[in-house]
Amino acid sequence: MQLFTPLVVTLSQTLLLAPLTRAITIDVNDPNSFKQGAATVASDMMTFYADRDSKLIPGKFDGTWWEGGAMFMGLMQYWHWTGDATWNEQVNSGMVWQAGPNGDFFTSNYSSYLGNDDQAFWGLAAITAAELNYPAVADAPSWLSMAQAVFNEQASRWDDTTCKGGLRWQIYPIQSGYRIKNAISNGALFQIAARLARYTGNQTYSDWAEKIWDWSATTPLLNTSEWHIADTTTPATDCTDHGDIQWTYNYGTYLMGAAYMYNFTNAGTKWKNGVDGLLAKTISLFFPSEYGGKVMSEVACESIDTCDRNQICFKGFLSAWLATTTQLVPYTLGEIKPLLQGSAVAAGKQCTGLSDDAHCGIQWYNPTWDRSSGIEQQMAVLGIFSNNLVFFDGSSSSPNSNYTAPKQPAPLTAGSGGNSTSNPGAGASEAPFDPNAGLMNIGTADRAGAGVLTGVFGLAWIGMLIWIAKDVGE
Ligand SMILES: *[C@@H]1O[C@H](CO)[C@@H](O)[C@H](O)[C@H]1NC(C)=O
Ligand SMILES: *[C@@H]1O[C@H](CO)[C@@H](O)[C@H](O)[C@H]1NC(C)=O
Ligand SMILES: *[C@@H]1O[C@H](CO)[C@@H](O)[C@H](O)[C@H]1NC(C)=O
Ligand SMILES: *[C@@H]1O[C@H](CO)[C@@H](O)[C@H](O)[C@H]1NC(C)=O
Ligand SMILES: *[C@@H]1O[C@H](CO)[C@@H](O)[C@H](O)[C@H]1NC(C)=O
Ligand SMILES: *[C@@H]1O[C@H](CO)[C@@H](O)[C@H](O)[C@H]1NC(C)=O
Repeated sequence: MQLFTPLVVTLSQTLLLAPLTRAITIDVNDPNSFKQGAATVASDMMTFYADRDSKLIPGKFDGTWWEGGAMFMGLMQYWHWTGDATWNEQVNSGMVWQAGPNGDFFTSNYSSYLGNDDQAFWGLAAITAAELNYPAVADAPSWLSMAQAVFNEQASRWDDTTCKGGLRWQIYPIQSGYRIKNAISNGALFQIAARLARYTGNQTYSDWAEKIWDWSATTPLLNTSEWHIADTTTPATDCTDHGDIQWTYNYGTYLMGAAYMYNFTNAGTKWKNGVDGLLAKTISLFFPSEYGGKVMSEVACESIDTCDRNQICFKGFLSAWLATTTQLVPYTLGEIKPLLQGSAVAAGKQCTGLSDDAHCGIQWYNPTWDRSSGIEQQMAVLGIFSNNLVFFDGSSSSPNSNYTAPKQPAPLTAGSGGNSTSNPGAGASEAPFDPNAGLMNIGTADRAGAGVLTGVFGLAWIGMLIWIAKDVGE
């Protein structure tokens, strides 16, 4: 009898405590903790991906299209930082399938209802692949040419007929988003142009980057005195009104583009000012002092539980873009490093959901799981875990394992080892963009689909306005 007693105690302790205490523990001095944490979160993320209804269509999520490109971008970064190629085949098939025959991420299944920002996220994934020398796929357009195709098509949609420029959110007049010019569409094209400029050295792209930045700065989308970024503005008011909900990805994309331009222009003053202004504002807005000042938060929706699936993954992008900023603008390292480290440690504590304790929640500032889970939560946490490996230089190995994080180069260029093939003419026809032309080919089924989606966007928009009104009223 006596012999059994200790065993019973041990067993019951295990049963009681295990489900409650497991989390992903990040040790900021141990690269292996980031690698292992990222591997766990990526694997859980890909279980969600494998379980989707539309699993027969590579790269297509249920009910949303843009998130596929965003997730693949995160998995390319994961491969880059850890060397783990487990998911590369799925990345490749999704990227190539959704790029379509023109390599432009504008296939007829989705082109009638998507927004410029949706297409841009796939373009950002493609330029990321080029910069990381992510392995090419045989018999598919090059990664670089895919980004060029997105750039060419979006540049052709630049709209001088209202607000003296700018990209509209959605592409065709029947869409409600056609009546909006938003920060993420313009900021994402700015970022793509800046990255193409640095990668190829082609002046046309840097001219465009500067043009998009300068135009944005004439509107509330980019206020270069306050460094305030409005989410939206409308041609109906000549782009003077502003929808002011603050999102991490809007600040992140303009910051990232400015960092590329800073690096490309060898520390040009204009871009240094942009990096400094936007970085300071990003930190003050999204690393709230009430959470200790080192934990990233999607402040507009997290604490009030209103983040939609889009918004849940935004922090992953800001994580990646801040990490890359430390490479391209090296003097920012000291400021950014503790923020990304603090956020990773905090995010690990959110990963105590079910499914072998690999589901992570949204509220990184909350030390206990917020009881949410989903593919977007995993995307965000994967972003903060894997991109933290930027801070290891190939010499620091972990005391608890023999893992040494490889030293990874900054984003490559054609002149520094990037080998992705350029095709400056990639994308759809050279003809000037006609917003009404694309509608000819849309069948009734597609129109109905577009209507439903637009309705959802419209409702979301009304919801946002009510939310603003409520916020202002309080
Ligand atoms: C377009 O939709 C069809 C029918 O569902 C599907 O077979 C095809 O894979 C889709 N193409 C893309 C690029 O998603
Ligand atoms: C570029 O080089 C990498 C290896 O560094 C390789 O994996 C990739 O496939 C190459 N891309 C092209 C287009 O040759
Ligand atoms: C930027 O913000 C300042 C202060 O609120 C304001 O005076 C200025 O008009 C804004 N600029 C633009 C382009 O909206
Ligand atoms: C541009 O980025 C490279 C790679 O990280 C870095 O070595 C270089 O110092 C950066 N240029 C400037 C002007 O900071
Ligand atoms: C690290 O490597 C040494 C020598 O190969 C080995 O004895 C040790 O067990 C390893 N430590 C861990 C934690 O794997
Ligand atoms: C630079 O980019 C522009 C715009 O895409 C293109 O027309 C031009 O051919 C490119 N120049 C070179 C040398 O690739």
